[in-house]
This record gives sequence, structure tokens and C-alpha cells, in this order.
Amino acid sequence: MWQPRVIMQNGELLPYAEARVHPMSLAMTYATAVFEGLRAYRNPETGAFKIFRLAEHVRRLQAGMKVMRMDRRFEVDEVAALLTRLIRANEPDDDVYVRLLVYVEALGLMAQTGPVGFTAAASPRERPKYAETGMSLGVSSWTRLSDNASPPRIKATANYHSARLTQLQAKADGYDGALMLTPAGKVSEAPIACFFMVRDGKLITPGLGSNILESVTRDTIITLHEELTGQPVAQRDVDRSELYFAEEAFVCGTGQEIIPVVAIDRLPVGDGQPGPITRRLQKTYFDTVRGLVPDRHEWLTPV
Ligand SMILES: Cc1ncc(COP(=O)(O)O)c(C=O)c1O
Repeated sequence: MWQPRVIMQNGELLPYAEARVHPMSLAMTYATAVFEGLRAYRNPETGAFKIFRLAEHVRRLQAGMKVMRMDRRFEVDEVAALLTRLIRANEPDDDVYVRLLVYVEALGLMAQTGPVGFTAAASPRERPKYAETGMSLGVSSWTRLSDNASPPRIKATANYHSARLTQLQAKADGYDGALMLTPAGKVSEAPIACFFMVRDGKLITPGLGSNILESVTRDTIITLHEELTGQPVAQRDVDRSELYFAEEAFVCGTGQEIIPVVAIDRLPVGDGQPGPITRRLQKTYFDTVRGLVPDRHEWLTPV
């Protein structure tokens, strides 16, 4: 597997181990940071790399920076140029995971809004091990963040404190992962992925009002499913007990891609095996991100 060579800080390429953020910065002390996780997939036929849905990731970053009142803005073309330079300099020979982290570098009082710095890293990322077998989830006793406390719709670093506690509890309890409920007790999402389930043959996912991240992959799945089947995806509240009625379920995200869920709270989902709707979406998703089918939505940006 290829190894990262260089990392980018504020536009400069450095040896990977030499990136630095001051411990007294707002970024470190108050988690005044927002980030994106993106993937550049290698087309196995041409060897070319393309970043998947770059524009949508940058738009979410812009929104996150606005919510956090950072006094800088990134444009799509600017990020495309920066990430192209980063990825080429690392000379990958396989898929690339890119993390773009933006933060207030100022040292001192909490209310400062700049200067804003950024770090972009490219690394290999193994395929999640549960992609084939599926994973078990447990509903967590940790509650998902609420919008007027720490807005979950943006990818703020601070939101992952709660996600991490949730994940650690799930592992300690013997599950592969967790599902979180909103303060109102509705299903929200997994610590680093969105959730979908199938009931009566119909695909359902919690709505944006269920304290979820505004996920790019969730939007991709909704679009692909509607194109494949002509059926809309229901975006609505899901009760905890409705989880046990699911015929199929999966989680999805840029890092997780699509992972079947085969058990929830130790009850089997359907027959306890990844289901046909999930498998079909996995195949369509990989064909799409790798550019093996025509890019009808202009989702792929060449590196
Ligand atoms: C909390 C959370 N939900 C959902 C997702 C999926 O988001 P996306 O599809 O934009 O990667 C992520 C991805 O990192 C996440 O951290």
C-alpha cells in the first residue's frame, strides 16, 4: 500500500511528519475547527484519479466555516487546485482519502475568528472490513447532539467528542458500531456515518431534522436509488422499535462507503445477511465513484 510523503499546511507542502499546530491555538483548546473527508478514486481501466463530489464537500465546508464564524472562505476551484497539487505530490498508486482540516490558528481568547489555517492530508485507506460481511450495531445510551448546542449538520471537530464516546461504548458492549438517538428518541445516525433501512421493500432514512450531518453520501444514495428504482427514498422520523422491523439496513459515508448492517441490539436485521437492495446500491455506488459508468451528474473532478 502506498504511503503519504507530503502534507499541505497553508498551501505549503511539507514532509508528512513535520506538520504543526500550536497547542495554545483556539483549534486545540476549543476545537475551533471544521473538516472534510473526501476520496479520490483511481479508475482501474485508465489509472486516472478523480475526486468524488468535491463541490458538495466544499459547499459543506463553506457552511461549516460560516456557522463557526471563521474569517476566511474557500472556493471550489481553489480547493480543487490545492488537492490536485497534494495528491500528485504523494504519487499514490491506489485510492486516496483526503482530510481537509480548517481551524482558527490564533492563540488566546475564544472569540477570535482568525487567522484561519488549514491542513490537507492524503492517505491510503483500507476498505472497511465489514463491507462484505456486514456489521452489528447497538443503540447507544449517548444521545446525538442537538442543533442548538453543537450543530450536527456541519462537520465540526468538536462534534466527534460525542461520536467517539458512542463508538467506544459500542465496542465495550461487544458491538461493531453504534446508532445514536436524538434527544427526542428518534433514530439519528452512526458516529461517522448515516443510516438507511428497508421496510416493506422501501428505502427509509432519518430526515435532516434528526440531528444528522448533511452527508454527501446520503445524498448520493438517495439519488442513485431513485434512478435505479423510480421510487423515492422516505426521509422521515424512525423510532427505535421500528429498527427491529427492518428487512435490510446499512450505514454510509465517504470513509465507510456502504456497509450492510446485519444485527441491531443483537436482533437480526431481516435474515441476518446483507440484503439485495444494499448489495445493488453498493455495486452502483462503486461503479459511480470509480467512473465505470458515465458521470451524468458531474460528480467527478479530475486530479
Ligand atoms: C457523523 C457523520 N455522519 C455522516 C457522515 C457521512 O458524511 P459524508 O457522506 O459526507 O462523508 C460522516 C462522515 O464522515 C459523519 O462523520
